[in-house]
Amino acid sequence: MLILIAHSLLGKIGGVRMMLEKISITAMMILCSSLTATSANAQQQTDAHGRQWWQNAVFYEIYPRSFADSNNDGIGDLNGITSKLDYLRELGVDAIWITPCFPSPQVDFGYDVSDYEAIDPMYGTMKDFDRLVKEAKKRSIRIILDFVVNHTSNQHKWFLDSRSSKSSKYRDWYIWRDGRGDQPPNNWQSEFGVPAWTFDKKTGQYYYNYFYPQQPDLNWRNPAVKEAMLDVTRFWYKRGVAGFRLDAVDTLFEDPNLTDNPAAPGKDKFGRPNFARIHNTKLPEVHTVLQDLRKIADQYDAVLIGETWTKDIAELKNYYGENSNELQMPMDLMFGTVNKLSAPEFRRQIAAVDTAGGWPVFVISNHDMARSYNRYGDGVHNDQIAKLMASLYLTLRGSPIMYYGEELGMENNDPKRKEDVKDPQGITGWPGEIGRDGERTPMQWSTAKNAGFSNTKPWLPVPASYKTHNVETEMKDPNSVLSVYRQLLVMRHTEPALVNGNYTALNEDDPNVLSYLRQDKDEAIVVMLNMSNTPQKVKLNLKPLGFASPKLSVLLSTSQSPAAAGTAESLELAPFGAVIAKVTK
Ligand code: GLC
Ligand code: CA
Repeated sequence: MLILIAHSLLGKIGGVRMMLEKISITAMMILCSSLTATSANAQQQTDAHGRQWWQNAVFYEIYPRSFADSNNDGIGDLNGITSKLDYLRELGVDAIWITPCFPSPQVDFGYDVSDYEAIDPMYGTMKDFDRLVKEAKKRSIRIILDFVVNHTSNQHKWFLDSRSSKSSKYRDWYIWRDGRGDQPPNNWQSEFGVPAWTFDKKTGQYYYNYFYPQQPDLNWRNPAVKEAMLDVTRFWYKRGVAGFRLDAVDTLFEDPNLTDNPAAPGKDKFGRPNFARIHNTKLPEVHTVLQDLRKIADQYDAVLIGETWTKDIAELKNYYGENSNELQMPMDLMFGTVNKLSAPEFRRQIAAVDTAGGWPVFVISNHDMARSYNRYGDGVHNDQIAKLMASLYLTLRGSPIMYYGEELGMENNDPKRKEDVKDPQGITGWPGEIGRDGERTPMQWSTAKNAGFSNTKPWLPVPASYKTHNVETEMKDPNSVLSVYRQLLVMRHTEPALVNGNYTALNEDDPNVLSYLRQDKDEAIVVMLNMSNTPQKVKLNLKPLGFASPKLSVLLSTSQSPAAAGTAESLELAPFGAVIAKVTK
């Protein structure tokens, strides 16, 4: 083993030496330093600061059904995305994560995949996909796909074969068990408010589904499943994909003995008694799979982002891997689900993720949670609050993942009647759980009909606020939410303190204003965020941090009044105001 490693290292060094003869001394030094930095991951490239591309990148989630409809059938598509790449480039996006666009019966809108290596005709063709990759590359935008690892569609050919007989080739690719008498094999519950075991008459057994019955769980204990799934990633890497967002990784493995879950207090959103899901989520075996996926990702300089619902930092830390050999970017959904504006709470979350040791990933909304505009908005100052939240998650140390339309202050447009609901969760859970349609409505491009998304009635309705909150209108207004996002993204890419700086919390006792310093050598920036609805005075004591007589020059202030002016000793912030300023010694 040891000898083998030494040998392959020597091989690499030998190859490098041959190349070195042909290049200059400076180039040699750069090459050597990046070699040391990345010896574990031969293919991963770093910049002058030892950073990999995804650490400098701003990510943007696209729900393809709802982004742009190029053929006017009311559903967004890949050519629609391609047509908007210039917008994304100008906005300052470096990578787009496209939620599943593979063939699917669309029971869970693409999260029920029936073929991992093709494009759903509803979204276009493989040619369209290749063109998207090519056009994106021209604009330095990388493509991240969504890999639904836990389950397939019940229409996937693997499952069709699996359910056909107890001795079929793919039988063991899914989880089949006998019932307990006429009851399911155990007490595990599905996430979607339905039973987690579905009886299949044909063979008289139950199959396991953590989500909908149309989403049978794969049996990851079967090595053939693992091989096939690893191959899927190679397939897409070869087509130019720069990484994956791994769906529902917490649920990959189950206890093979099917031990019942213990009861827990309370009821869930579907009104069922709660259980602690200790025997069917977050099993340690998931880490081996993540390591295997990572080895392949490293060969392609790709990134793995995880949908990681962790309850604490210890769990999050596990997802980076003991040797940083699992997910580079597990989402910190503890930060992502803070549901009210609270300086102390955000301060605590930022400090916590900083101790996890990996690269932080900040998300404030996605296709599964109500839009940040509604979750943080107070109904009066929503735009101001949207700018405040942007000033927070785009200036932290870590990579942000934006959600399409967040940059506009797009709001949730929730269904008002059960018969309008499209999301299976809402159909089962109405009225307690209304589902996720509200946060998945069409992107608001202009004041034209259907917000310029499509000429036809879109699959979900746009809210009336599209008249004011759309790309066309907001581009013209220097004080729009969009304009603030654009300024922030320019800063994020150009200010050394924001690109590379460390994070230091300031005024940690302030209950209303979240303040912090980002610093990279002599470059420093302070961010001050008033999370209250009253004006707040801020006094910063920067002397202990090495600033003898600090001078602030404001880079961005989200309030139109000049209230933001001041010195480090005394500065006033408008209600929900954000100020970002450069500090010099
Ligand atoms: C993830 C997706 C969600 C989907 C579920 C089942 O949580 O984000 O949209 O319904 O997995 O695949
Ligand atoms: Ca379409």
